[in-house]
Amino acid sequence: MPLRIGIAGVSGYTGVELLRILTAHPGVQVAALAAGQQAGRSLAQVWPGWTGRLDLPLVEVDALAGAGLDAVFLGLPHGVSAAVAPALLDAGVVVVDLGADFRLRDPAVYAAAYGPHPCPQHLPQAVYALPELHREALPGARLLACPGCYPTATAIAGLPLVEAGLADHVVSDCLSGVSGAGRKAGPRNLYCEVQESATAYGLAGSHRHTPEMEQTLGVPVVFTPHLVPMVRGMIATVKVRLLRPVSQAELHALYVERYRHHPAVIVRADPPQSADVRGTAAAHVHVAVDATRGFATAVCAIDNLGKGAAGQAVHAFNLAMGLPETQGLPLVPLLP
Ligand SMILES: NC(=O)c1ccc[n+]([C@@H]2O[C@H](COP(=O)([O-])OP(=O)(O)OC[C@H]3O[C@@H](n4cnc5c(N)ncnc54)[C@H](OP(=O)(O)O)[C@@H]3O)[C@@H](O)[C@H]2O)c1
Repeated sequence: MPLRIGIAGVSGYTGVELLRILTAHPGVQVAALAAGQQAGRSLAQVWPGWTGRLDLPLVEVDALAGAGLDAVFLGLPHGVSAAVAPALLDAGVVVVDLGADFRLRDPAVYAAAYGPHPCPQHLPQAVYALPELHREALPGARLLACPGCYPTATAIAGLPLVEAGLADHVVSDCLSGVSGAGRKAGPRNLYCEVQESATAYGLAGSHRHTPEMEQTLGVPVVFTPHLVPMVRGMIATVKVRLLRPVSQAELHALYVERYRHHPAVIVRADPPQSADVRGTAAAHVHVAVDATRGFATAVCAIDNLGKGAAGQAVHAFNLAMGLPETQGLPLVPLLP
């Protein structure tokens, strides 16, 4: 019997990407869709490209707890997920949250970035759903906190260096496509203001993803996000001053070994570009050593909506539910 799945936030970008992946997933049946202001409309009204493919109405998110579902994916703004999740958990539904509400272990750290946590009592049961770090904790998990897109790319690039004791800090410069800001209109995602233009923002530790990166990597992170004129895609360029000399061959071998048993990560001998992973749940990573200056640079490419959101959420859900790890995951890109 396929697992019965609900998607909250299907009128948004991560929600509709979840819909694309989960309707092609042989282990699940998409049985309920929910939205905010667009509840009451049909899927085809909200996403005309889905006309004739799935005949489900968009209901209120509060209706999902009583819908007889096995799991619900939440593609909702932070704060909204935390308001919705407790009723689902009480109803025995597995919750896969793509937002920030359950990622940070310490409620005080959450409060500093997002405001007071609405349900801190649920934080201890949340598993930070980065398969490459918490694979053992995922089977049987009932509340999955999916990592942010920038923290995912930064972690994949930086973890091998930190875990090997080669770095005690990380500098992460990231490029993001405009879909990273979601579907809501705003000056930062107006065509006239983002096409043919790029910008840095959230400087000097002020971006909310900085504490999440530091929780994952366990070292100080200097993070600078940049918005670039593409629809989807993300590059993290991670730089560290090496604590001891290491050769290019050793460093490459370190990454190959670190990700040997992680099917979503491909270690490459050349720097990846964002198009290499467009539409996928995969991450491509490359590392290079500058022996003259004693630095290493690691570059990770992901799709912010794929490995950075919906694709990784389904990957972690597979592990949590005991399904084959890569079942239903898009792992090859849409090219060109
Ligand atoms: N975009 C990315 O690349 C990305 C990557 C990783 C994580 N995330 C996280 O994923 C979450 C969703 O992001 P997104 O980009 O998909 O956002 P989005 O495109 O703006 O979509 C947000 C969704 O949430 C619904 N919603 C908003 N307020 C609601 C409320 N009060 N009650 C019920 N539903 C409500 C919206 O429904 P209506 O439109 O019907 O109001 C919409 O379906 C966020 O927490 C974001 O930080 C995003």
